Amino acid sequence: MSTQKSIKLSDYVEYPYLIPKIYLDFDIRNDYVVVQSSMIIKPKLNESSKLILQGNRIKLLSISINGKELNKDDYEINDKELIIDSTPISEFELKIKSQIDPFRNTSLEGLYLSSGMLTTQCEAEGFRSISYHPDRPDVLSKYTVRLEADRTLYPILLSNGNKKYSGYLSNNNLRHEIIWEDPFLKPSYLFALVAGKLNLVSERYTTNSGRLIDIKIYVESGDEKYTKHAINSLKKAMKWDEDKYGLEYDLDEYKIVAVRHFNMGAMENKGLNIFNSKLVLADSKTSTDDELERIESVIAHEYFHNWTGNRITCRDWFQLSLKEGLTVFRDQSFTSDLHSPGLKRIEDVSFLRNFQFIEDKGPTSHAVKPKEYIAIDNFYTTTIYEKGAELIRMLELMLGKERFFKGMNLYIKTFDGSAATTEDFINSLIKGAYLEEKNCPFDVKKFLNWYYKSGTPKVHIDQSWDSKNSILNVSFKQQVDCDKISDNTEMVIPILYSCYSREKELIPIVEDNLFVLDKNNKNLKIKLPGEKEAPVLSIFRGFSSPVVWESDLSINDYLFLFLNDNDYFSRWNSGQFLMREIIKKRLCNNANYSLEDKFIYAIKKSIKSLEVNDPFFLATLLTTPGFAELESLFEKVDPINIYRESLNFQVLIGNKILHQLKILAKNLLVNINHEWPMGKGERKLLGTIWSYLTLTGDKIVKKNCIESISHPSMTIARAALGALKPLDSPETEEASNSFYNIWKENPVVLDSWFAYEASRPNKQGIDVIEKLLSHSKFDWKAPNAIRAVLGGFSKNIELFHSHDGQGYLFMADKLIEVDKINPITASRIVKVFSKWKSYVDKNKEGMYESILRINKANISSNTREVVELILK
Ligand code: BES
Ligand code: ZN
Repeated sequence: MSTQKSIKLSDYVEYPYLIPKIYLDFDIRNDYVVVQSSMIIKPKLNESSKLILQGNRIKLLSISINGKELNKDDYEINDKELIIDSTPISEFELKIKSQIDPFRNTSLEGLYLSSGMLTTQCEAEGFRSISYHPDRPDVLSKYTVRLEADRTLYPILLSNGNKKYSGYLSNNNLRHEIIWEDPFLKPSYLFALVAGKLNLVSERYTTNSGRLIDIKIYVESGDEKYTKHAINSLKKAMKWDEDKYGLEYDLDEYKIVAVRHFNMGAMENKGLNIFNSKLVLADSKTSTDDELERIESVIAHEYFHNWTGNRITCRDWFQLSLKEGLTVFRDQSFTSDLHSPGLKRIEDVSFLRNFQFIEDKGPTSHAVKPKEYIAIDNFYTTTIYEKGAELIRMLELMLGKERFFKGMNLYIKTFDGSAATTEDFINSLIKGAYLEEKNCPFDVKKFLNWYYKSGTPKVHIDQSWDSKNSILNVSFKQQVDCDKISDNTEMVIPILYSCYSREKELIPIVEDNLFVLDKNNKNLKIKLPGEKEAPVLSIFRGFSSPVVWESDLSINDYLFLFLNDNDYFSRWNSGQFLMREIIKKRLCNNANYSLEDKFIYAIKKSIKSLEVNDPFFLATLLTTPGFAELESLFEKVDPINIYRESLNFQVLIGNKILHQLKILAKNLLVNINHEWPMGKGERKLLGTIWSYLTLTGDKIVKKNCIESISHPSMTIARAALGALKPLDSPETEEASNSFYNIWKENPVVLDSWFAYEASRPNKQGIDVIEKLLSHSKFDWKAPNAIRAVLGGFSKNIELFHSHDGQGYLFMADKLIEVDKINPITASRIVKVFSKWKSYVDKNKEGMYESILRINKANISSNTREVVELILK
């Protein structure tokens, strides 16, 4: 039984007051900050009731209503709330003066210090650590903010919206003040403030309607040169949202601040985004191609929130996916449009399968729209984000693009300036798309099950070929396991399919077709007039719904699709299936040599057909399945065995295609120096080839890798490091040292070195990890650094999963320490123990002992929630 109280969706009641206006005054002193808030408050029902405000670690100095100071017995105060027993029945002004201490706040929530500058993080419930307030997303107000501070310590003072005034204090010219006004209604979680020594890089953007927007990026001195990529990305995002959705930016300036100490990736505060510095500061010398693409998409994501999240926000945190799933869908579409839709789809599916599917099988599995939670910070999960995005993608597919955009427009028009629910969204999407719901070709109520039910649905597919009439009959059966029990829930599952004739490779005999599977529609008839032989069925093309499936396709069908399918996802998926088969068979001491030979033949053929025109795709096809995916092939997981066999598999392939890989590597060198995004395919392929070749023991390649550590492209340098990683060789050591020496003064790049050191095999054992944690460049207050070392360590399979259980205990002890400083970071990393029940006994027992150790410690409620779920 949980010892903690959960919040339930069914308990939602409207807040009884409106707060149309808030005036906030921050007086920043050397070791505290005085906050004065003045709120215009209107009882919704014109009657007096209890006014409950949230507050966390705030020292109350004074409180008044309509200018009249309240007595001690007019209100109650405890460690979470301030309750005013009765308020006026008509509009009144509540003034609260209080004091907070951001200088000793290590949680990185509310107002806190990062490298000498003050910054905020309010989502989800950080505002209550700044000022007494309802701090719930359905209370929307217009904010005016005055900031006052020392001019030399805090020359830059920022908040949301437009600048209204700035100047020196008339009675003290060492201090200055600035007033910011945000004309848009917003919830408290979008409030932001930054104060410190920052340098500004600015640019302009002109909207389609001709409005000029000032783009302002604030960074620490010396980092100005790394802002170009972020600025370009923002401009692309602004343009894309105008062209695609007709949505323009609404303020005169758009500010982004980069901070080193940040729990998440980035935050969409209205007009003042705050970013983890690793997601702003970048060029091709310091960041890999993957990181550049990631930054482009995160900048876009936060920008897209301005409409899906800020202008229309969430009624409560149960609706989190309303803004996050939708905005991930938007950023995925953006990247897809800018680069390659096929490749982007593979990337997203691979992520979904290796993270969201795993989450959904484990103890922290939950619905996209959950019914209850304990700590909301624990709900920023891949289910809310990536599965949420998949649901919208299914809607886009079933409605068709044109109707989908009509639906989106209606949603935005209807709910602009308000706080909405998931159902509001779905209903207006369908209404906008079809005007009348009865015309919608699928059952909308049934579709909502995707939001309400946890678990990954499974689809069984059986085919039969009617040779007399040339018809392929396909029957589908769906099975939904939610909350770990099978039930009769029916899902609406869109299935994109096509067919290939075995003789006429490459040309599908049926173009992409959509079949929507639900209770009343389970059998598909594909008519293939003139065909004599059963075709090859290509199914779930583009990964048309987030399910797993089992079909009666033969190995030869998969080989056929791997070589011929014109759908990137489907082709890649077939290769992944074959690789998993081979690795699985080997792990069960049942190697299938004929399959291996056929697969290697197919790989050789793919290299020939793709090396020149599509090196990125070729590299993707050559990449082995993710570790988590391999683990899920087994009832009882033996992580060390799986890790070793997956390496053996690469050695096997590497040795069989050695000659081709070497020639290919040479040919690639010509194009690897082009600026991103050009040359990224060649760079990725070269890295993939290096990984195969180092494993085969190729001395020349190892030498090559060492030399490439100083390559001007970070992608190449990191590819070289990566290729040497599994070896634990003198070359690995040398490469790592040389990387460290080049980058030791750049904290963002150094994090990747920390992760590398923590995750690579080594003979000295856990001492290496301990040394990293006490390294002079390691910063305990930076979640990036903690995640690099502890997250890296959890991927160091032989060390973390060592059979003496020492790896697990070490992790437990360190997480207990992290939790004291930063609960949000600890509760995220503690999920490395989620799968304990699925491991073989020796690992299972060790993990269990470690989780118990954390459970016995004095931990935060965030971490406790996760630990209790894992233990259940
Ligand atoms: N709103 C979130 C940031 C956030 C999440 C703040 C949880 C506080 C608690 C932001 O829009 C976001 O989703 N950021 C992601 C990156 C994004 C590209 C998916 C992140 O920070 O990882
Ligand atoms: Zn987001």
